Amino acid sequence: MNPNILILGAPGAGKGTQSARISDEFDVEHVTTGDALRANKHMETEHGTPASFMDAGELVPDPVVNEIVNAALSEADGYVLDGYPRNLSQAEYLDDITDLDVVLYLDVDEEELVHRLTGRRLDPETGDIYHVKYNPPEDEKVEARLEQRDDDDEETVRERLRVYRENTEPVIEHYEETGELVRIDGEQTPDEVWNDIRETVESEA
Ligand code: AP5
Repeated sequence: MNPNILILGAPGAGKGTQSARISDEFDVEHVTTGDALRANKHMETEHGTPASFMDAGELVPDPVVNEIVNAALSEADGYVLDGYPRNLSQAEYLDDITDLDVVLYLDVDEEELVHRLTGRRLDPETGDIYHVKYNPPEDEKVEARLEQRDDDDEETVRERLRVYRENTEPVIEHYEETGELVRIDGEQTPDEVWNDIRETVESEA
């Protein structure tokens, strides 16, 4: 059985960057609510479109997100879950539908998060994640096609961090209390963070 891995951390902590490596190394599905919602941003639901929440930096209502996660996890043979749960009610829902083998938490200081998010650029063709300063692409053709996410302007980033503190920090405390949380220093280089994650998953799963 492939492991069921949960990766927690603030916006910009490096969850997407590290989940791609986890998915390759441990042969698990990368389940990310952020990407799933971006792919359905303009879908009408009884709660409104995901875009109306995401572009303001707010959380999309639980019923919409819970359904996405339930469907994705039921099809996966091992997964790394990224972007969920973001509040205690989502954490309770997750406890009911699956068993986790490892809970990782990427710990990064808030001002560093702002630098990372406002400088992030994405390759629309491959989905690869870059940063204008920390991780620029080597190929000029790739550089020319990079895009910035709609919610990565500084004002929305600060609102996302406020929403994170209010809603998601209690989730971190929840997994600390259950004794499952493994804290990783997310301010190291991406390779150093990856080494810590790989060792943790190999020893816990
Ligand atoms: P989502 O897409 O999940 O965004 P997020 O949680 O805000 O996380 P990010 O993707 O912004 O950051 P990351 O941790 O993946 O960082 P990355 O690896 O890219 O959610 C977006 C929106 O969708 C939410 O605001 C909400 O509206 C909605 N949503 C999603 N899930 C929901 C849910 N469960 N419930 C309700 N609503 C939901 O790295 C960031 C940058 O830093 C990159 O440029 C990267 O190159 C760089 N970097 C990474 N690691 C390092 C390092 N070690 N050193 C230096 N630079 C680094």
